[in-house]
Amino acid sequence: MRLAIAGGTGLTGSRIDAVARARGHETVVLARSTGVELLSGAGMRGVLEGVDAVIDATDVATAKPDVSVSFFAGVTKTLLAAERAAGVSHHLALTIVGADAAPDGYYAGKLVQERLVAAGSIPWTILRTTQFHEYAALLFHRGRAGAHVAPRGRVQPIAVDEVAAHLVDLAEQAPAGRARDLGGPQEESLADMIRRYARAIGFRGPIPLVSVPGTWGRALRTGALLPRPDARRGTQTFTDWLDALPDA
Ligand SMILES: NC(=O)c1ccc[n+]([C@@H]2O[C@H](COP(=O)([O-])OP(=O)(O)OC[C@H]3O[C@@H](n4cnc5c(N)ncnc54)[C@H](OP(=O)(O)O)[C@@H]3O)[C@@H](O)[C@H]2O)c1
Repeated sequence: MRLAIAGGTGLTGSRIDAVARARGHETVVLARSTGVELLSGAGMRGVLEGVDAVIDATDVATAKPDVSVSFFAGVTKTLLAAERAAGVSHHLALTIVGADAAPDGYYAGKLVQERLVAAGSIPWTILRTTQFHEYAALLFHRGRAGAHVAPRGRVQPIAVDEVAAHLVDLAEQAPAGRARDLGGPQEESLADMIRRYARAIGFRGPIPLVSVPGTWGRALRTGALLPRPDARRGTQTFTDWLDALPDA
């Protein structure tokens, strides 16, 4: 197959690209660093020629709903229009378990992305997954020196390699609509994850427990972002992931 990976240079996209190439697929990576700007559509001419499926793993780092909505709506519209023009027969989007539980921040954009894909004319698959193990690292490094915090939260983190492999599985199959959600093997405390990650990389300072305000913070604390019992489960635990860190 010929697969296009939007955001194929990112954390998830680069793993999707590696899995797809290892399985013998041809890949096309769409990212600004490969000459494609997915908001304006610059650099898109001809890139989807002969492509069977497009996997969207783009992202924007924001907690602001208007920024998130304009990013995910813009990227999705650009991709769907180019897919129509090139005759692509499958669009896959990666979104987040519990996106509808806190639609007033970043998740607002993920919901708009899902709605545009489902309402579009390209046959589609939407996969919602839980937070990746790397989320602990991301949140730790967001705190500048001396200002690290550990938010209270219930999460069930998943290995990004398992997400990537499952997305390629889905791209190899017929469009599925809303695929079964994918979560990690077990529930973890987000605060513990951040503290354990920090210790694993040698940080010895304090990391106080905090409650994130607002709808998203409440969703995180109350378990609204956990997968339901019928979700598919990955196998790599957060402990396995920590043990595999180069600095651990
Ligand atoms: N992190 C999690 O825990 C988690 C959990 C569930 C689902 N997800 C979803 O997974 C997806 C991927 O997240 P990630 O953490 O892998 O993202 P990431 O590492 O931040 O990568 C984002 C990708 O998007 C590309 N990109 C950004 N703006 C672009 C633009 N205007 N035009 C073209 N390309 C653009 C980037 O490349 P350039 O900078 O070169 O343009 C990069 O390849 C997101 O949709 C997220 O919602 C994440």
